[in-house]
Amino acid sequence: MNVGILTGGGDCPGLNAVIRAVVKKGFQYGYEFTGIKNGWKGLVEPSTVKLTKDAVSGILPLGGTILGTSRTNPMKSARDAEAVIRNINELKLDAVICIGGDDTLGVAAKLYSKGIKTIGVPKTIDNDLSGTDFTFGFDTAVSIVTWALDRLHSTTEAHQRVMVVEVMGRHAGWIAVYGGIAGGADVILIPEKPFDIDEVCGHVKKRKAAGKNFSLVVAAEGAVPRETGGMITKDRETDAFGHVKLGGIGEFLAREIEKKTGFESRHVVLGHLQRGGTPTAYDRVLATRYGLRAIELVHEGKFGRMVALQGNKIVDITLEEATSKLKTVDMEMFKAAQVFFG
Ligand code: F6P
Repeated sequence: MNVGILTGGGDCPGLNAVIRAVVKKGFQYGYEFTGIKNGWKGLVEPSTVKLTKDAVSGILPLGGTILGTSRTNPMKSARDAEAVIRNINELKLDAVICIGGDDTLGVAAKLYSKGIKTIGVPKTIDNDLSGTDFTFGFDTAVSIVTWALDRLHSTTEAHQRVMVVEVMGRHAGWIAVYGGIAGGADVILIPEKPFDIDEVCGHVKKRKAAGKNFSLVVAAEGAVPRETGGMITKDRETDAFGHVKLGGIGEFLAREIEKKTGFESRHVVLGHLQRGGTPTAYDRVLATRYGLRAIELVHEGKFGRMVALQGNKIVDITLEEATSKLKTVDMEMFKAAQVFFG
């Protein structure tokens, strides 16, 4: 059995841990592995590497991905989609394990409907894939946000300022909510709950009145101010999957808060720091469990499925279920965060 593996979309810590687990367990079944370079791009214009025991040795703690990644969407053109199917056949891949978020796994679902034997592994720092409690990479991103908030806390307090911290997450506020709770944020803003700037200023003023001369505001990049009626974007350009580049909410808010309250305000954009570097222990274990189950699914001949975490069990669900809608923030969780606002 020749199994292809690819990593697609934005990278996240834990990708290499999945690759290692898939290959090490797969060798026990006597399988061979073809690493596909740079996501779907490596199947549109074939670019592959043999994954040997040596290739996957020592990669568990490494961030990024030894295979490279891209946001290539082969389903955008019939020619590319045909090329992918042709190349999978020419490379004699019996199955393809696709490690990705909703975009990459959406392609895997479509290929499965065309007869290609695909398996999905849920990766994204955004934690927005349905059917799984957690995607790997999320825990690491939350740890980095927490680390940053701890540091920003002392300088913000020392200068009696308002600090707005912009975090990733696209259309979901999971990173903002978990990071904000862990880092003791005074206000958390998420895309799922449009907000009034005056309300945010109210929290900041309330703290001041209570003798707290500083505030930390965590804003998800996709948070929606009612005043603007939409997310703040970098430009109008979209990527191959139709996503606009989000960003700017932190700067916008810091300016508005300073204008409306007179309190000196600053902003920090954590950006790609949240995706880089070594995975946490939690993400290494989760990624390893996902990888082991993914190759078992290949061995059992169960395709068109994505491995998932439900409770503490690794299960599998259809790729279609996983990618049909985004998993947005659970309002119970947001209510827990709101207890600490102001
Ligand atoms: O999907 C993960 C993610 O990190 C989002 O949170 C963010 O909006 C986006 O990727 C950034 O993508 P890029 O790497 O293309 O800047």
